Amino acid sequence: MARAGIAILGCEQSVAMYMPMFRYLDNGEFIAAADIVKEKAEKARDVYGAKRAYTDIDEMLLDADIDGVIVATPHYLHAEHVVKIAEAGKHVLCEKPMARTINECDRMIDACERNRVILMPAHMKRFNWCFQLADRLIKDGTLGEIAQVRTQWDTYAQGTDAAYMKHRTLGLACLGYGSHTIDLSRWWLGEVETVSAEVSIGWKGREVDDQSVMTLRHVDGQVSVHSVSLVFHKPLLEEYTIFGTEATLQMRVEGLWSYTSPLPFDMKLYRRERMVEDVTPKILDNIDDTLTRTNHFLKEMEHFCDCIVNGKTPMITGEDGRKATEISNAGYVSSWKKRKVILPLRESPDLETFFNELAGSEN
Ligand SMILES: NC(=O)c1ccc[n+]([C@@H]2O[C@H](COP(=O)([O-])OP(=O)(O)OC[C@H]3O[C@@H](n4cnc5c(N)ncnc54)[C@H](O)[C@@H]3O)[C@@H](O)[C@H]2O)c1
Repeated sequence: MARAGIAILGCEQSVAMYMPMFRYLDNGEFIAAADIVKEKAEKARDVYGAKRAYTDIDEMLLDADIDGVIVATPHYLHAEHVVKIAEAGKHVLCEKPMARTINECDRMIDACERNRVILMPAHMKRFNWCFQLADRLIKDGTLGEIAQVRTQWDTYAQGTDAAYMKHRTLGLACLGYGSHTIDLSRWWLGEVETVSAEVSIGWKGREVDDQSVMTLRHVDGQVSVHSVSLVFHKPLLEEYTIFGTEATLQMRVEGLWSYTSPLPFDMKLYRRERMVEDVTPKILDNIDDTLTRTNHFLKEMEHFCDCIVNGKTPMITGEDGRKATEISNAGYVSSWKKRKVILPLRESPDLETFFNELAGSEN
């Protein structure tokens, strides 16, 4: 089988997300781990079996064995890194959120189109077996007509670490966390027409939003509601409720991060007349088999490599990543200007001023 040569730029959380999955990846090979911190790049290489470690992105891009790069640096660097990688003629799988603003997304899309390389945003939840089951139940009519999707994401988070202090990140709750749930709601309900949101800073000293509640109206009239709190003293809670005319599907995970856990969401289907069916997918007896069949990062990388090797268009494109950023940008505008925002956004909002004002009024 033809294999794509893959590098990973940014060796912090990618160590828990992508790197352990290379041992199961048939159509890709881990060529290089790269990070500005030498020890991180070398450790990633040594532990996860990459061929080389780099601290300099320009040097890495000269490596002829690399066909595609997974960008797992902080999101304020995504635009700069993706443009560089595209100019070097390499394909890109870019972590979420794709970028801070729609202007940055446009630069990334343009660079990838000009250089004829793939730009795939890493909305890996679309590759998750539980979300795929939800998608099937929506699309095969089991849930009936969908009236609403509601998402709730609260993580154990206190204090003012770097993620909140770097206000150049231009958003966290609505942009960073929201990008996942926005993408799911677009997958299930279609395009978004209007955005209403309230964001705020709940923990003193933080410079970007740690609270976000966003309501989206989708083209066919359905509503999705996205709630995030990063001031939470309990273990993580992630919950999705899909309200249909025939049944309600509830997906819930509590006390663990769903992105790194092999355990499925607890999934319940509530039919009419109070019939409850447990539709939680069952893990297999052997952890290798479970990961091979179900891990979303593995499935995402397999798809990325398949697109590289066979010249296919990815099922999630740069336009999807841009839409998620556009909708969260619109959420910030809605909260700032105290109004509902009609899409499309004509230009990137001045988020720097917004967050200065927000931090000034709330800290
Ligand atoms: N899909 C998911 O569920 C999920 C989960 C966690 C994080 N993420 C995303 O992954 C990305 C990385 O997150 P993180 O928490 O690991 O970020 P981070 O801030 O910890 O940084 C990641 C790494 O990038 C390195 N780095 C910084 N600047 C660099 C540069 N110029 N060149 C090379 N390396 C550089 C840092 O040294 C660090 O090791 C973000 O976009 C985040 O939103 C996605």
